[in-house]
Amino acid sequence: MKILAIETSCDETSVAIVEGKGKLENPSFEILSNVVLSQIKIHKKWGGVVPMMAKREHSKNLIAILEKSLRKSSFLKLNLKSQISNLKPEKQKRLNKILEREPELLERFLKFIPTIKPPKIDVIAVTIGPGLEPALWVGINFAKALAFVWNKPIVAVNHMEGHIVASLLKSNLKSQISKIMPFPALALLVSGGHTELVLIKKWGDYKIIGQTRDDAAGECFDKTARMLELPYPGGPQIAKQAENFKKYPLTFRMGGWTRREMEKEAFNIKLPRPMIDSRDYDFSFSGLKTATLYMLRDMKERYINIGDFTPMICNEIQQAIVDVLIAKTIKAVKEFGAKSIILGGGVAANKELRMQMKKAVLMSRRDLDIRGQTTALYLPSAKLTTDNAAMIGAAGYLRAVNKDFAEPEKLEAQGNLGL
Ligand code: KG4
Ligand code: ZN
Repeated sequence: MKILAIETSCDETSVAIVEGKGKLENPSFEILSNVVLSQIKIHKKWGGVVPMMAKREHSKNLIAILEKSLRKSSFLKLNLKSQISNLKPEKQKRLNKILEREPELLERFLKFIPTIKPPKIDVIAVTIGPGLEPALWVGINFAKALAFVWNKPIVAVNHMEGHIVASLLKSNLKSQISKIMPFPALALLVSGGHTELVLIKKWGDYKIIGQTRDDAAGECFDKTARMLELPYPGGPQIAKQAENFKKYPLTFRMGGWTRREMEKEAFNIKLPRPMIDSRDYDFSFSGLKTATLYMLRDMKERYINIGDFTPMICNEIQQAIVDVLIAKTIKAVKEFGAKSIILGGGVAANKELRMQMKKAVLMSRRDLDIRGQTTALYLPSAKLTTDNAAMIGAAGYLRAVNKDFAEPEKLEAQGNLGL
């Protein structure tokens, strides 16, 4: 089954073509194309994603991204007979209605779509939530319009299910992947808007066993980075600074101090690990953000040049987040007897989180083996951790094999959609 997938939930415009094979128990996927256009440069100057700007950019770029995605997967076939206005008047009318809120997209749609043959795809998958509603709507209306002119069914996809399924994919195109994931599985989903531990009994059967009570892990990276005057998005910036810090030899001087001197007595750059010992699987990252704020205020009051210590502070912020995420995940793996651990979401790109999670799984393996439980770790390739349509196509396949098709008229953006 060939799926054309559309993702516009936040600040990435993406269209992919994915081929899914196999039953729900052992699906396999081939990514035929996965074109992603990031809007980060546009939102950067505002320090975060501006929903209406994201909407406009999706509207402006979707057709070009679709064209590229079709071309890359060799699904682009020109319709030589066609003229620009070959859509029948009643079809035009209906299309105008579907895309009435996206005039820019409609204009490009009418110029491009009649010039190509309907691609040989079986279904269209689109993200309906969670995410920014104005942004989600563009993708949904685009999917409706394509489904209408090409006469294809639509599957509605939960963005977070996409992040889970991303662990089944390989980013190099054309590589055939078939992974039979042992269940129950436990997914740690960490992105700009979510921090969740999800227990998965089988594909489609998700139970959130813990989540953040305030800020998400990615949000904490982004907000503390902002305090340190690092650009948006903060996660990769903090990771880069922390990596520099780890590379410093002990004698390298920062602001007149060696690392050894600093660590020993100069500044006790130590942040809390909120809720690390709580009995549940919930998280809280706003306390870490506030603790960082107070620490920086205190340093300023002591006339300490924060810039000199940014790498060290970043290392501590990252480690505090990683410590909590790993501790809760391993605890849940033991309690629920998980046979697979899945990492997903933008923060899953974090190298330290990936490396330290691998170590933690190895270390706890002895404990787990005693109960006859071997736990495998599924890490999505770094390219597929952040938002992309390939993961939406794969999650869409899981719906489509169950014939779980949407009624186009009832499709709506659901900003707070849960798993
Ligand atoms: O999944 P995603 O692309 O978008 C959402 O659905 O939110 O995640 C974006 C988040 C941002 O908060 C960003 O700072 C964070 O993922 N992120 C990282 C890294 N790369 C992206 N956080 C830590 N380390 C990274 N290397
Ligand atoms: Zn995401």
